[in-house]
Amino acid sequence: MKTEKYNRAQLEDLVLQMMETELGGEKIYRAAIAAAKNPDLREEWEGYLEETLHHQEVVRGLCATLGLDPDQPTPTRAVVAHIGKSLLQAIELAQRNAPPEVAQVVAAECVVHAETKDHSNWELLGRVAEVATGDLGKALKDAHEEVEQQEDHHLFHSKGWWRELAIQGLGMPAVLPPPEEVKKVETAIGASRAEQARTEML
Ligand SMILES: [Fe+2]
Ligand SMILES: [Fe+2]
Repeated sequence: MKTEKYNRAQLEDLVLQMMETELGGEKIYRAAIAAAKNPDLREEWEGYLEETLHHQEVVRGLCATLGLDPDQPTPTRAVVAHIGKSLLQAIELAQRNAPPEVAQVVAAECVVHAETKDHSNWELLGRVAEVATGDLGKALKDAHEEVEQQEDHHLFHSKGWWRELAIQGLGMPAVLPPPEEVKKVETAIGASRAEQARTEML
């Protein structure tokens, strides 16, 4: 029998972390949308929330392919849930105690933290998809193909919003919507270029 080039138990662990990340992401987006003041940002996050709900279904499908219960608890999943709950509480804390424009920056920061994990999950899944074979390999490739670009937007565009809103908070000229959004950034290199170009966009 051919041995796979990855650890199946660890792949299952990753997929269950992904389930928890997408479930937590929904809650974080709902709180972030409530804290959003900028209408473009609110619209952006509403779109990301819809995509996150779809990612939940994609990951549920992967659980079914792997024969996993999507609600199964694991130690790593508990960590993901813990961090997600902390991010949610951070947004709520800022909304209670800080001026609305500050709460909006905090929400943007928390979205970036959440999306950093989400993006990393899908990137790791993509690495397994490259080497996995058979029906499972195809399911992983299809899921990755469907979601990857959306996760690039979630992370790179949210980073741009956080940076520009924080700069605006410091009383300095900001590019809103951020350059990453205007330039429709889809890669880490593109995000870096967009950030470098911000001064020309002021
Ligand atoms: Fe996602
Ligand atoms: Fe995401």
